[in-house]
Amino acid sequence: MATSNGAFVICDDLYKIFKVADIEVMALQGLDLTVKRGELVGVVGASGSGKTTLMNVLGGLTRPSAGQVIIDGKNLLKLSTRELTAYRQVEVGFVWQQGSRNLIPYLSALDNIKLPMTLAGGAGSQIDRRARELMDLVDLSHRYDHIPIQLSGGEQQRVAIAVALANEPKLLLADEPTGELDSTTSDQIYDLFKRLNRDLGLTICIVSHDPLIAQHVGRVVAIRDGKLASETVRRSRQGAKRQPQNAEQERAELAERWDDHFEELIVLDSAGRLQIPKQYREQLGFENRVEMEVTEDGIVIRPAQNLDETSSQGEIQLEREIRVGENGTRGGLFSRFRRKS
Ligand SMILES: Nc1ncnc2c1ncn2[C@@H]1O[C@H](COP(=O)(O)OP(=O)(O)O)[C@@H](O)[C@H]1O
Ligand SMILES: [Mg+2]
Repeated sequence: MATSNGAFVICDDLYKIFKVADIEVMALQGLDLTVKRGELVGVVGASGSGKTTLMNVLGGLTRPSAGQVIIDGKNLLKLSTRELTAYRQVEVGFVWQQGSRNLIPYLSALDNIKLPMTLAGGAGSQIDRRARELMDLVDLSHRYDHIPIQLSGGEQQRVAIAVALANEPKLLLADEPTGELDSTTSDQIYDLFKRLNRDLGLTICIVSHDPLIAQHVGRVVAIRDGKLASETVRRSRQGAKRQPQNAEQERAELAERWDDHFEELIVLDSAGRLQIPKQYREQLGFENRVEMEVTEDGIVIRPAQNLDETSSQGEIQLEREIRVGENGTRGGLFSRFRRKS
């Protein structure tokens, strides 16, 4: 199990199974994730990979089927229904993709922000002051009395962020908050998240369909089939940065920075499992058995040979040999399926 050393969010071997009629869907399949206090993390993955389910689990909206979720030292699975409601109200803030899910359409921006504070039992004058402060924080001092339909998509998401911050949560969860925005407005929203992370020390998880989110956050984790598959980390780059003179140069500079600054690492979980991306499996003809060989500087994984013969006829056994090279230095662990004699 992951330790709580400096970790604010710990997900350990999380499973979530949804049952629809007689069919079970595994939305999370042994997901491990650790987020440090004050970290800004991006979560990416194909549609249906389990991103929203993970956000719902972290937000206390869904109980996992198995595994552990510890947030700020609290084991969410051990909370009573009442404690979980309190957790959702004050310890975590949500921002969803659709403005309509974040805001009440007939309330002004200010009243939308006041609502969660009123529900949590705050006092009137304080609520009003804090709501105005939050509108200022998200740069909307000129929009206090506008109702959502009178605001642009980007402004609606700013109000949604202010609503999410109303009860001073320590954790902010955003599920595709820029999914319906153009790229310029999206960048402004990401800038706001960065500022909140830096100035308030807020721990933030942002789900995105955009792999370029790595430019805006400290770390990106990728979910594949309900499991953490890879992590993109930022590496500092040597050398001077060119000042782009036009949009094309800026794009080229960004692309270059992307190459230089970010590195995708495959996640190796506590049980030693890792996911080989589908594209590589297809390219190399991997099926459900592979051979592994330890070399001087790593492990080579190859498609297993002659499997048809053995798997279709009776019992097979796994043989494991240590192969030692001529000079005795190259050890190799070699696994292969053989028919039992
Ligand atoms: N409430 C639910 N009932 C049944 N299946 C669900 C439910 N929520 C999600 N799923 C299924 O779980 C999987 C993961 O969904 P989701 O977490 O929404 O993925 P993502 O947000 O990455 O698109 C999908 O196969 C989805 O159909
Ligand atoms: Mg989703």
